[in-house]
Amino acid sequence: MASIYDYPKYYDIAFSYRDTGREAAVMQRAIEQFSHIPVANVLEIACGHSPHLEHILSLGYSYQGLDLSSTMLAYAAEKAAARGLKAKFIQGNLADFTVPEPVDFAYIMLGSLYVQTTAQLISHFASVQRVLKPGGLYFLDWCIDFSPLTNTSDAWTCRRDGVEVRVRYTTRLLHPARQHYRESLSAEVREGRERLHLEHSNIRRAIYPQEFVLVASHMHQFELVGWWNDWDFNQPLDSVTHGIVRPIIVLRRKLVRPNSL
Ligand SMILES: C[S@@+](CC[C@H](N)C(=O)[O-])C[C@H]1O[C@@H](n2cnc3c(N)ncnc32)[C@H](O)[C@@H]1O
Repeated sequence: MASIYDYPKYYDIAFSYRDTGREAAVMQRAIEQFSHIPVANVLEIACGHSPHLEHILSLGYSYQGLDLSSTMLAYAAEKAAARGLKAKFIQGNLADFTVPEPVDFAYIMLGSLYVQTTAQLISHFASVQRVLKPGGLYFLDWCIDFSPLTNTSDAWTCRRDGVEVRVRYTTRLLHPARQHYRESLSAEVREGRERLHLEHSNIRRAIYPQEFVLVASHMHQFELVGWWNDWDFNQPLDSVTHGIVRPIIVLRRKLVRPNSL
């Protein structure tokens, strides 16, 4: 069965319900309010087709995108070249990576923190710590499972340029002790007379809020700046008890004082 990641154009349409301009503005606000360093270089982890690239560049930042999939990276690079946008793309695994130059701000979208084990989660934070300058922010969209794992299902349809993509997304609990669940995405594509069925399925380790803080802040040099519901700084999660939708989390790499080395 063909995977949606082998058809980045349809993946791009499937997730085009987002207002990427507004999301870039929210990241900009986080930088203005919480970054302890000036920001010039931005890294997107699991960048896929780099949907925020144009907005990131228009805010005056340079952009690097890291992704595992050469197909997604090739699509992102082609799209950027066609629009005359400058970007660097790096193939790598978010569980253990580095980039050529340290960055001032890193972000990850749509809950893309794909790990299967605790060791990979720890190694992910070690990688971000390696590439993010002290005082810089790590901005995460979703990525934490704020509700205990259950079987879930969601469906939506997006249309663009005469193409319709109907998406179904499900999660199935596999192994509670390992915090493993199966995430599956299927897409029905209609383009003119063409019909295509795409699937993608993978096993993930759920990441719960307090263990996230433990790994980021106690095992690594990050402090939790805050977490908010639905990309809205007026909804801090500490005062939300249910109905959490698309939370954002902001971490800052601690400034290391010379005498604490
Ligand atoms: C949900 S998409 C997000 C793409 C893009 N950031 C966005 O906002 O639409 C997830 C991306 O993560 C990439 N990915 C999956 N596992 C990865 C890994 N272990 N390391 C790096 N990228 C990975 C996939 O290739 C895909 O492009």
